[in-house]
Amino acid sequence: MASARSTGSLTRGQLSPLDQLRLFEQKYDPGTRALIDRLGLPSDARCLELGAGAGSMAYWLAGRAERGSVLAVDTDPRHLDAGRAPNLSVRRADVTEEDFGEGAFDLILARAVLEHLPRPDETLARAARWLAPGGLLLVQDFYYLPAEHAATPVSRALVGAYVRRMEQQGADMGWARHLPSALARAGLSGVDGSVAPAGPGQSPQDDELIGTRLRQEGHTLVENGLVTQEELTSFVDALGSPHARDMTTLLVSAWGRRPRA
Ligand SMILES: C[S@@+](CC[C@H](N)C(=O)[O-])C[C@H]1O[C@@H](n2cnc3c(N)ncnc32)[C@H](O)[C@@H]1O
Repeated sequence: MASARSTGSLTRGQLSPLDQLRLFEQKYDPGTRALIDRLGLPSDARCLELGAGAGSMAYWLAGRAERGSVLAVDTDPRHLDAGRAPNLSVRRADVTEEDFGEGAFDLILARAVLEHLPRPDETLARAARWLAPGGLLLVQDFYYLPAEHAATPVSRALVGAYVRRMEQQGADMGWARHLPSALARAGLSGVDGSVAPAGPGQSPQDDELIGTRLRQEGHTLVENGLVTQEELTSFVDALGSPHARDMTTLLVSAWGRRPRA
């Protein structure tokens, strides 16, 4: 009988980019929301979300900051609906180029965005200047643990291939480790952070995200000679079984506030 975590219950069809963003939100929203609640968000806060994706965090922030405002920006804003809340606006913008105004925001959130940018430190430092005194910058990015320490040989091959491919596309999958130091260098105070593991078996959403991506894009790893078809198939088939459990990456959350004076 298939277990609750068996890949048999996972989506077998093709997931659209929007479906993938939504799956990502399902996995990461509870943690991000709990963190923002813990750090405190005034109901009149002016919020900016960089690279807002499919919008779930922006919509949630608009509810929390009901007397404030939320600006959700993305280079591809087609999944963002400004009609979801009266205090929400949406803008097509490249955060590496656009300026959002000195001292204009009480909260800036950037989740899984900066690691994809060519010079993430530079964008982080610019974002720090968009904070009002006392304002909070919360950045979340993935730090990939060394592939050679993965739990199984196939996992070692797959994780190594995935990280190499992301890096070929310009992402820096080690940058998240620098987050607290980058926030401090940007002049923020009260810098702190936390980590949460992700990977096969860490949650049903992890298995679905990993399985779906590999079913859709895994063939490119095979075509580029990074893994064999047998390795790929065996990895995907093992998702959901206890021996496939691994911690391949850590979501690093780091935050700091602009000093008041
Ligand atoms: C991995 S998704 C994360 C989406 C959302 N932050 C979340 O956590 O659910 C990365 C998002 O960043 C956006 N993005 C990438 N580069 C960007 C840039 N230079 N300026 C603005 N948005 C960007 C992408 O279009 C995409 O929506």
